[in-house]
Amino acid sequence: MSPSQSNPTSDNRVQMQSTHDATAQYIVQVLDHLVAARHSVRAFLPQSVPRAVVADILQIAARAPSGSNIQPWKVYVLVGEALKQVSLEVIRCHDQSLEHPAPSGGPNSSASSSTSHSTPPPLSAPYPYYPSVWVEPYLQRRRDNGWGLYDKLGILRGEKEKMHRQHQANFSFFGAPVGLMFTLSRALERGSMLDLGMFMQNIMLAAKARGLDTCPQAAWLPFASVVMPLIGAKEEEEMLMCGMCLGYADRQASVNDFLTPREPVENFTQWLSEPCEQTHANQSKI
Ligand SMILES: Cc1cc2nc3c(=O)[nH]c(=O)nc-3n(C[C@H](O)[C@H](O)[C@H](O)COP(=O)(O)O)c2cc1C
Repeated sequence: MSPSQSNPTSDNRVQMQSTHDATAQYIVQVLDHLVAARHSVRAFLPQSVPRAVVADILQIAARAPSGSNIQPWKVYVLVGEALKQVSLEVIRCHDQSLEHPAPSGGPNSSASSSTSHSTPPPLSAPYPYYPSVWVEPYLQRRRDNGWGLYDKLGILRGEKEKMHRQHQANFSFFGAPVGLMFTLSRALERGSMLDLGMFMQNIMLAAKARGLDTCPQAAWLPFASVVMPLIGAKEEEEMLMCGMCLGYADRQASVNDFLTPREPVENFTQWLSEPCEQTHANQSKI
């Protein structure tokens, strides 16, 4: 069939299909890029983020799934003086915890019940984010990650003061103009933590798509009893689950070049197309 004889309807369909294919491919590329490009940023520019942008990010992030669509997440957005106050108070408590370590030496132990300025603050995380006993392969990965980061920062083994300062940088949100605090109602169960994690990942990707970067922060947890009243959250009703920095990355800061590896698919995946032998053996015993 010559071009002059071609069927316009079928030509349009072919063109629409190829436009559709190109769009679909582009969407895959964009999404894969966002997921791969997100990484934890630990140095931010002081440039502020418009409130409308933060609101947009939170609105799209709330498309995250949650069991029975209960949408358990609650977010406190800290900017300006509110951020500064939380930051200063926690830095002060963090310094005190170094001067007066908790008896057990762990950040999760309750050292005191007083919040007075002259005595060490209580250090008790609302939930244990990490195990108290580490096993492989997690221990090695954790060590590699920690030393990889310190290496970027030029911190050597035994340089405790420098390590303290780096840990403390968490409490100024690494210089980010926006700090997020995530809480869950104490009336909920552990399942809601999955939902919150999905919501948080959506925030990080939506931020990345808008030229912003993030760092999720469990570092705040031992200071929950300091943070919660300062953000107006009732500890008896809500639990602090995580913090997060949000802002424009400082591209000059070498700490932001710290990129982390991931295991290949075969190391964490079991492909099952036949009944698993063990299950089969157990079932045949019954
Ligand atoms: C829930 C959660 C809490 C985290 N807490 C901290 C933190 O307190 N301080 C910090 O510097 N990084 C923190 N991180 C960042 C991790 O160290 C980081 O995600 C991990 O090393 C992988 O690197 P990537 O985020 O750059 O891909 C946290 C990550 C998650 C998911």
